[in-house]
Amino acid sequence: MGQKKRLFNTTVIHSGHKEDKETGAVMPPIHLSSTFKQKSPGDFKYEYARTNNPTREILEKLLAEIEEGNHAFAFSSGMAAINCLTDSLDKDFHIICSDDVYGGTRRIFDKVKSVNQNIEITYTDFNKENNWPGLIKNNTKMIWIETPSNPLLKIVDIKKIKSEISSENIKIVCDNTFASPYNQKPLTMGADVVLHSSTKYLGGHSDLIGGAIVIKDDLQLTEKIKYLQNAVGSIPSPFDCYLLIRSIKTLGVRMERHNSNAMLISEFLQNHPKIKKVRYPGLKSDPNHELATSQMNGYGGIISIELDTDLKGTLKFLENIEIFTLAESLGGVESLIEHPAIMTHASINKNIRDELGISDSLVRLSIGIEDPEDLKNALENSLNLL
Ligand SMILES: Cc1ncc(COP(=O)(O)O)c(C=O)c1O
Repeated sequence: MGQKKRLFNTTVIHSGHKEDKETGAVMPPIHLSSTFKQKSPGDFKYEYARTNNPTREILEKLLAEIEEGNHAFAFSSGMAAINCLTDSLDKDFHIICSDDVYGGTRRIFDKVKSVNQNIEITYTDFNKENNWPGLIKNNTKMIWIETPSNPLLKIVDIKKIKSEISSENIKIVCDNTFASPYNQKPLTMGADVVLHSSTKYLGGHSDLIGGAIVIKDDLQLTEKIKYLQNAVGSIPSPFDCYLLIRSIKTLGVRMERHNSNAMLISEFLQNHPKIKKVRYPGLKSDPNHELATSQMNGYGGIISIELDTDLKGTLKFLENIEIFTLAESLGGVESLIEHPAIMTHASINKNIRDELGISDSLVRLSIGIEDPEDLKNALENSLNLL
């Protein structure tokens, strides 16, 4: 039999490391050493753990492989990864960004990068704005997309964006946090760079903060990110790298369950009289359903809903719900629920939130891998209080 490319669930379990040569340990050791002995000055495999570390190296190989990229870099948070990527562009440049992105991404762009690096950001809805390439300027360096987006679950057509850019100098950056590489592989559809908050599905257990950048084949950008990762030093600890290696082994099975649970729950919510609107790309009624079906292998575990009530009623629903924990973040095995306007997207000005549709009755659910009947009951009971 010839060598066949391994499929996802085999790759996540077997890539990046083999049994330890010295001990036969099946799982890789956590290398805590901050420094490494050199045979002669400058003659070493590892030098100093900020620059490289054997545990981080395993994680980075694994990340590159599951995103089908060539180079991956792990960071201490998703925001550290975003910061490093924008630092790679020097000064005075322009980014065109999806209008619906994580609040922290908008915050660093509008309040930090535009001040410190004089970057200009134009936000747009790539689905509505057919003429978006008209926004490209001489100094446009990045098209920044988040798909599915946070919190409104809009889907951006990655292949179409690629086909509409004529300059090689403009890079497509895709924040793949919501989909995870199990559900979507942006680098195979024209994106140049994938970004993750690995705090979410990659970590999957709400017990670490991490970030990642995966690059397809831009060697110049790869060298810059490698340089900055070491120079700035926002790296994950060896223990967090180990946790990620361990978690990624179950990414496929977790995502299948997140996908199927969220599908069932979104169908249930769609028919509920106390709910005005459900956004879940898996629903046939969702405006982006066809697009999501064409570029994703699964629709993910995040649902956003608009309740048929005001802020007071929404808070009552959130305060009383069982099983779902009222907390920021997403992508863990346990179901979480949150209020974007007061929590994750509070850093966005109210007028922009209103324009986007992040209303006081919008609620975001991160559907975990519990039994879906229990999740449905919990939602039903709390909705009945309205
Ligand atoms: C889509 C997305 N990108 C980036 C981030 C930032 O990641 P982190 O919280 O790990 O810094 C988040 C955090 O919620 C996110 O949801």
